[in-house]
Amino acid sequence: MLTSKIMAHRGLSSLAPENTLSALKLAAEQGYQWVEIDAIALGDGTIVMWHDNSVDRCSDGTGAMSEHNAQSIQSLDCGSWFSKDYQGEKMATIEEAIKLIQSLGLGLNLEFKLYENSPETVVAPVLEVLNKHWKDFDKLIISSFDLAALEYCYQQQPQLQLGRLYDAISDNWQAEMQSINAVSCHCSYKHLKAQQVSDIKAAGYEVYCYTPNEPKDVKDHWKWGVNAMITDYPQRYDDQPEAQA
Ligand code: G3P
Ligand code: MG
Repeated sequence: MLTSKIMAHRGLSSLAPENTLSALKLAAEQGYQWVEIDAIALGDGTIVMWHDNSVDRCSDGTGAMSEHNAQSIQSLDCGSWFSKDYQGEKMATIEEAIKLIQSLGLGLNLEFKLYENSPETVVAPVLEVLNKHWKDFDKLIISSFDLAALEYCYQQQPQLQLGRLYDAISDNWQAEMQSINAVSCHCSYKHLKAQQVSDIKAAGYEVYCYTPNEPKDVKDHWKWGVNAMITDYPQRYDDQPEAQA
């Protein structure tokens, strides 16, 4: 299933603006095999590759995602905040992102963020896009902090590989993961304990950690058996034997 122990978080987001087509292309160019991206709805139901619930931090515009639509995002510059080299970068729709990731041959960890929206609003259109453009479902993991998003995926397409996201892993992880037939548990590396990795792996699930940007912070985690790290700085792991597939 996983072809790499490293996933480029929001694309190669330390070297290009996060969650942009440029960050995806750069991840592929630099030889990384998996990317993590976020999917979120605009006010008109268009699903875009974006993390925050507003455009303020990562564009030259302002406003909540619900105040934007397919037309209004066309005038946003989503690259200059990061570097003038990326001036004019557009916010990408999830369809553009998925088509590009498939064409680059990358694995995809697709994270749904519902915010105030329903799973029908955010997840249903993306499943349609995946069914149209995605070929290698072995190289697709759908993850979310929103259990309702994962439940919706499981109901609609039970064969999808689902990852349950936690900050600190909740006590009822096993029941939650069973309820959606998850394949993996994704959590912050900061709160993870060796015993949790051992319990979760013994129950048959993989464990992925976000977002360790310093390899030294997860030396123990590899030893505990964590399967993959989701990081803004995959390049810092290039020489790390633990991180080699
Ligand atoms: O999918 C792992 C990680 O991306 C979760 O946190 O806030 O960076 O989307 P966040
Ligand atoms: Mg994410």
